[in-house]
Amino acid sequence: MKILTKEILAQTSDTRITKIEIEAPLIAKKVQAGQFVLLMVTEKGERIPLTVVGNDPQRESITLIFQEVGYSTKILGTLNIEDSLYALVGPLGHPTPIKNYGRILVIGGGVGIAEILPVAKALKEAGNVVYSILGARTKELLILKNEIKSYSDNLYIATDDGSLGQKGFVSNILEKILKEDKDFQLVYCVGPVPMMKVVSNVTRPYKIKTLVCLNAIMLDATGMCGGCRLIEGGKVKFCCVDGPEFNGHEVDFDELMHRQGRFINEEKVSLRKLKHKCKLDSGKKK
Ligand code: FAD
Ligand code: FES
Repeated sequence: MKILTKEILAQTSDTRITKIEIEAPLIAKKVQAGQFVLLMVTEKGERIPLTVVGNDPQRESITLIFQEVGYSTKILGTLNIEDSLYALVGPLGHPTPIKNYGRILVIGGGVGIAEILPVAKALKEAGNVVYSILGARTKELLILKNEIKSYSDNLYIATDDGSLGQKGFVSNILEKILKEDKDFQLVYCVGPVPMMKVVSNVTRPYKIKTLVCLNAIMLDATGMCGGCRLIEGGKVKFCCVDGPEFNGHEVDFDELMHRQGRFINEEKVSLRKLKHKCKLDSGKKK
């Protein structure tokens, strides 16, 4: 589980998105689009789920792309080529149902763009006409534009500040496209939960099948702990074993957002400890 390559894809004053290629021969052979891995950076670290963005069975490696949002992803960001992860399990979750739907829209927001890449590729290779909509806060954080373009028949971009593409949200572009042409058989969307909620609300009146890939907080990823519980169609589901993709028209997004905020105090404490440790370490170096 050694890191073979590492590349910073995007960086601003408050965040960073990094791509790493990791030695993982068995996962590289088996993984399919839409699946994820669970990893531990250190022995005492927590387990975090990350989507497998690419795999190369010849190089016996998988590619992950992650945004540094808290303790574990920031620690992961400190690893360098030749460093090893403490643990890596996968592939987990159901693969995306890949077939020729006809005309489809794939939508990625923020680091969700990385998560749509393997799905856009597989759906394009299955013969679909692919329209892609990418969104980010600002142009510096808009990753993988050329890679997504290579699997798209049409590509649209939105940034919150208007620094690239249309000013506004992916849902504004989606609304415009559907008003002019509603002949789409699938919408596939990954991004922040509020974005997936809005996209699902936009497609609902058109009755277009809408799959959302949900980033519920996970602990064991075996369906045992209940940490990633969510409601779909009034029924309790577990993101790790029933997902990670669900019917956007049936997900209770408000409940999911509420559950995502339940460790906010603990997350703040661990981040403060990490910042303190970094200060001490840089003091020692001086
Ligand atoms: P924490 O300290 O745990 O959290 C920091 C902030 O991030 C908090 O605001 C918290 O509410 C929010 N947060 C915590 N966990 C999640 C979560 N699961 N989703 C969204 N926000 C969260 N991230 C990537 O960057 N790339 C991926 O390819 C990717 N794939 C994922 C696939 C699946 C199936 C799932 C469930 C999640 C995926 N995530 C991905 C999200 C990633 O797992 C979290 O960002 C990570 O666990 C945060 O850990 P942390 O300790 O760094 O942050
Ligand atoms: Fe424990 Fe899904 S992470 S049930």
